Amino acid sequence: MVELRLPKNSKVKAGKRLLAPPDVKRVKEIHIYRFEPEDAQNPRLDRYQIDLDQCGSKVLDAIIKIKDELDPTVTFRRSCREGVCGSCAMNINGKNTLACLAAIADYPAVIRIYPLPHLKVIKDLVVDMTLIYQQYASIKPWLQKNNSEALRGAEGSVASGGREQLQSIDERKQLDGVYECVMCACCSASCPSYWWNGDRYLGPAVLLQAYRWLVDSRDDQKDQRLDALDDAFKLYRCHTIMNCTDTCPKGLNPAKAIAEIKKMLVQR
Ligand code: SF4
Ligand code: SF4
Ligand code: FES
Repeated sequence: MVELRLPKNSKVKAGKRLLAPPDVKRVKEIHIYRFEPEDAQNPRLDRYQIDLDQCGSKVLDAIIKIKDELDPTVTFRRSCREGVCGSCAMNINGKNTLACLAAIADYPAVIRIYPLPHLKVIKDLVVDMTLIYQQYASIKPWLQKNNSEALRGAEGSVASGGREQLQSIDERKQLDGVYECVMCACCSASCPSYWWNGDRYLGPAVLLQAYRWLVDSRDDQKDQRLDALDDAFKLYRCHTIMNCTDTCPKGLNPAKAIAEIKKMLVQR
């Protein structure tokens, strides 16, 4: 039966508030969603005031400062701190983005930070990415040659007949706007179609990756890749709502990539 009410412990409650010392001149208040799976409590929003004169310029710097100086229990993912690993994806003031690319100065006095929406929360800002990674694996995100021997070049390099796989400048250009994707899943977590059909619809992050391999001139499996995507749910749940493109912190356009895949299917 359809559950029309929110589960009892879904309401986010006000948590603790740690104030900055009175002599701090430039204060920013950061609210962070907290959820501890092992206690039966509701999630809460903890509030921390920080001294901007003693903090780096990005939202990730603020979260790291809070963890280092105010509350070591705050849990989040991060690695590169420069927008290339994709691990610090979260929802900041209503928009999915990478915390290490988000400038504190671009936000108002209060910054509210939640985990990516519609993904299961493991703890605080850490979400379960298992399904997205399974879907990513399903599109075979690697170079496929018809002759698999061709891939066994010296020291595992991508080579055919012992030679590099060269691309013309124009062929290489096809990868611009797609190779930059860091698989942060900000786009998929903002897509209403993925919210409702995430178990069967691949979502914008994975479909942009699928497109990346379809337009790689070195790949020999275009037909097989298209066959695998030609499915009412995997691909055609995209209704061009464009949330994905609007939110991508790398400035990419997954909605266009999805439209291009549909076009390839019509044209072949
Ligand atoms: S398209 Fe953009 S938002 Fe989506 S996974 Fe790639 S980098 Fe992240
Ligand atoms: S354009 Fe497609 S993938 Fe992007 S948010 Fe809309 S439905 Fe989702
Ligand atoms: S820490 Fe790597 S993308 Fe933000």
